[in-house]
This record gives sequence, C-alpha cells and structure tokens, in this order.
Amino acid sequence: MRSERREGVPRAVHSMAYENAATLGEKCHRMLFEHGTPSRRSPEASPDEELKKEGRPMEHPHIPLEDLQVQVAACRRCPLCDGRTQTVFGVGNPNARVLIVGEAPGKNEDLQGEPFVGAAGKYLNELLAIAGLSREDVYIANVLKCRPPSNRDPRPEEIQACTPFLREQTRTINPEYIVTLGNFSTKFILKTDVGITRLHGTLQRAGRFKVFPIFHPAAALYDSKKREALENDFATLGELLRGEA
Ligand code: URA
Repeated sequence: MRSERREGVPRAVHSMAYENAATLGEKCHRMLFEHGTPSRRSPEASPDEELKKEGRPMEHPHIPLEDLQVQVAACRRCPLCDGRTQTVFGVGNPNARVLIVGEAPGKNEDLQGEPFVGAAGKYLNELLAIAGLSREDVYIANVLKCRPPSNRDPRPEEIQACTPFLREQTRTINPEYIVTLGNFSTKFILKTDVGITRLHGTLQRAGRFKVFPIFHPAAALYDSKKREALENDFATLGELLRGEA
C-alpha cells in the first residue's frame, strides 16, 4: 500500500494492522448483514471505530449521509485516492426502499461525482423504469467510492478499505431491498463465492435486508442474452415491490 502515513511502518506491524482491520470488517459485516443489534456510539466516530474500541461487534445509531459524505471526500485509506478527480459517494432518495449497489465509478462518474452517469447509467435508468422506478425513488451507491485506474476490477484491499462507508450508508438508508449489480457487490453483500450468473433474479437475505442480485448493466450493453435476463430481473423486482411476486 502506498501512503505517506504508512511509509516506514515495519512490514510485520503493517500486516498485523491489515489483519485486524480485516477481522473488524468481518465482524461489522456480520452485525449488519446477519444479525444487527442497535446500541450507542458517538456521532463523531468514523465507521467501525467504535467497534475497534470495544473489541467486539456492535451496531450503532446511523451516521447522517452528509457527515459520511464528508468522511468519504477526505478518505485516503487506499491508493485509489491518488488517481481520483473526486470521490463518488452516492445519490438518490435517503429514505429509499431500494438501495442499488454497483461496483466502482468509471471515467464519467469520476468526472461528475455521481454514480452511473455514463452509458451503463443511461441503461440503468431504462431498467429502473421497467421496475416502475425512477432514480428519485432509489438510492444508488458503489462498493468503491474512487475510480480504479483504467476501470480495472476492484482489489480485495480496496474493497476492505472502502466498504465501511457502504455499510454505514446501508445502515443509514435502511432500505427494504438491496439490489446488487454484478459480481463484486453481490459477493460483498452476501459474502458468497457463488457468481452472479447463478444468483441473478433470485431473492436472497442478508440480515434484515432482502437482497436481489442482478447482472451489471455494463455487462449487458453488448450481450443480448444478458440484456434479456436484466430486463426480466428488473420486471421481477417491480413485482416484488408491488407485492405481486
Ligand atoms: N459502473 C458502476 O458499477 N458504478 C458506476 O457508478 C458506474 C459504472
């Protein structure tokens, strides 16, 4: 990992810190997506910080999205911060029934500071309409808040560094449904190795959340089979939301 703060940290200490962070992340994940129990925390504490103090998993009152956005904008937890134009926090209805989780910002998102504004975003708007939804009805966020160079896949250490923010967004928005777009968000939320090809269009659970995995819109732009599956799955999502499925 590259960062001024980490320079000079002996390798053993660094890897211990990395392991502790990984364990902490696992515990936080289980608390939110498997068996959350509300308890108290200080509003200034950063995501997962309170947990660190207590040394045990706990859930806490939500952090306002505006405060989280400030934390994200200042984040330097991984080297992706060096290449970003800006962070891409998320956008939409803070009281949404549906949280859509994509992978990571691309070039357009990095420039505009908003998720899904490129070609995949235009297609996402059409897909939302199939479910009877508009962008104003849902909240849209990504697993990563910074653009990976050349739109490469997110790396495990980047996901680990960034996802406390997604967990906090989820806790604050408290959606009924989480729609995971593609493999990265599906595997992260469901903590599974099962791929999107098998899981798409099936209703899953993660703690108090209903999770509905769907192919990533970008994967379907030039693949008519995936496009058909995506459109069917968004139609099913609409039925689920209307209580028809
Ligand atoms: N793809 C994503 O997963 N997220 C975006 O914001 C844009 C493209």
